[in-house]
Parts: sequence; structure tokens; C-alpha cells
Amino acid sequence: MTAQPTNLTGLDLRAEIDRLRKERNAVILAHYYQSPEIQDLADYIGDSLELSKKAAATDAEVIAFCGVKFMAETAKILAPEKIVVLPDLNAGCSLEDACPPEKFKAFREAHPDHIALTYINCSTEVKALSDVIVTSSSAETILAQIPADQKIIFGPDRHLGGYLNRKFDREMLLWPGVCIVHEAFSETELLKLKAQHPGAPVAAHPECPPTIIDHADYVGSTSGILNFAKSFPGDTLIVATEPHIIHQMEKALPHKTFIGAPGADGNCNCNICPYMALNTLEKLYLALRDLKPRIEIEEGLRLQARRSLDKMMEMAAGTIGKGDLGAR
Ligand code: 13P
Ligand code: SF4
Repeated sequence: MTAQPTNLTGLDLRAEIDRLRKERNAVILAHYYQSPEIQDLADYIGDSLELSKKAAATDAEVIAFCGVKFMAETAKILAPEKIVVLPDLNAGCSLEDACPPEKFKAFREAHPDHIALTYINCSTEVKALSDVIVTSSSAETILAQIPADQKIIFGPDRHLGGYLNRKFDREMLLWPGVCIVHEAFSETELLKLKAQHPGAPVAAHPECPPTIIDHADYVGSTSGILNFAKSFPGDTLIVATEPHIIHQMEKALPHKTFIGAPGADGNCNCNICPYMALNTLEKLYLALRDLKPRIEIEEGLRLQARRSLDKMMEMAAGTIGKGDLGAR
């Protein structure tokens, strides 16, 4: 259950969160898609792989995970002795929703000669049914280590899988899930924006459909896109991922211009992740105060899911901080 806001009027939430963070020996981890106010008070901000590594390595007793549920569950799988709280338990993910474990299990059983290479944006149950997990920053490094003749099921993101298939000339079987946020970018509107800003490169997340990726100068994870923003030579960048990441770009490079790629109505607001947006300062305060809602995972399931995550950590070694799928 999500903690219910009591009357918080008059509370200095930032000061209270700071006090509780110390009292509880808590670490606040935030994904780049969180609101600027949450990003600004987090101890660490990062992409999915970086946040998983932070969760596994922290000596804090409590992890307050400002991200979505599969990310907080990953933290709990990797750090079972910690209390992991998620400000709003309804912070899900359309990719997770697109891949029910029973259907995934049946699909695997129908393809016994395939291994399952699975995007981290899925449930703990689907992780437990998978051989190796990947994040957008580790997918390329991991796929490169799998023999070319090994048959692979890739789920749940068909766009990331399709991107990898095209780039590596593979024929992975793709699960038909999409991210509703990246799916909403419009090629027509992107082309209009490019015409208004001739020479501005486009950086895109691989969850985007091919119609957007085809116009990208750089494709990579959230950290990869941020690194690209810090190194591209021009003064304007078009960003085809969830627009809250622009907060970090503007902080690091105040003299440059970052423009969110538009959705079909020409307005990039439709690309705000509705799940990430459920976490607020108020809910973070309550989560630290009440130490709930907590992530709990049955031990047998956790151990099964841990195997595919450990495999990722082993195969992704060296990827951390690179955040990179590389140039197209
Ligand atoms: P990253 O691993 O690139 O941070 O992506 C996570 C995600 O959910 C993107 O939509
Ligand atoms: Fe899931 Fe898309 Fe939101 Fe990422 S942006 S958490 S993939 S719905």
C-alpha cells in the first residue's frame, strides 16, 4: 500500500527528507526521469544499470528508490538485507505490463532451443524465467559475447530488440512490448524540429521506434545520452527520451540548448513517463518516515531472479559509467 499523505502543510519537506535520510541511514537513488526536485535531493542519479550497482554496493540500511517498481525490485533482489521503499507502489512500466510471466513462460517453452535475453524493464517473475538480463547501457556488450549461432528470445521491448538485431545482424525473436513514452514521439514533428534547428544532432533512447532512431546521430541509454550531451560540439541538441533528463543537461551545460523531441501533437508533454511522475516529494517524505511502501520478494523467487541479474553484472563488467550503446 502506498503511504497516505497526512496533513503535510507547513512542513519543510526537503529539510525533513534530509533529517530522515540521516536518522534512517538511508540512501536516496533516483532515475533521470524523476522530477528535478527529486533529482536535486538524491544521493545518486543514474541509469538502470548504475542504480542497480549502487543498490548492490551501498552500506546504507534503507534504499529509498525514486524510480519505477522493476528498478526498486532489482535493488531488493541484489540487496535483500536492505529495506527498499518505493514512494508509490503504482509506479509501474508499460514494458513490464506487456509481458505477463505465464505468457512469457509459455513462449519460452515453445522455443526450447532459445535462450532468453531480457530487458531489465520486466517483473521479478520474468527475470526468474530469463537467462541473462540486459539494460540499455549493457545490451550491446552482452550480446557481443553470445555466439552468433545461439538462438535468442529478446523481450519485452521490441524496439530495443529490433535495434540490436539491425545493428548486430541478429535474428532474435522479439516479444511485442513497447514503452508508451518513447512510442509517442512523432517522426513528422521531429523532422519539422530538425528543419527549425539545422545542424542540431538528435540523441535517442533505443526504446524509440525505428522511425525516430533512423534520424538519430546518437543512440544510447539515459547515461549514454547525457554523456553525448556533454561532448557534442554544437550548441543545440534534440533529445528523444523522457524530457526530465534535460534537467541534468541544463545543470551541466547551462550555455547550451536542449530541446525535447515532440510527440504527435507537437507538444513533448506526452513523453513524460506517467509512472515515474507518481513519485513526489511528499510521498518520498512519507516513505522515509513510515518505511513503506516496502518492496518484498519471496526468497525462492528472488534467488531465481538473481541468477539472470548476476549474469548481467558479470557480462556487463566494464560497462558502468559508459552508459553506451554507441553510435549507429
Ligand atoms: P536506462 O537504463 O537507459 O536508464 O532506461 C530505463 C528506462 O526505463 C528507459 O525508459
Ligand atoms: Fe517504462 Fe517507458 Fe516509463 Fe521507462 S519511460 S519506466 S520504459 S514506461
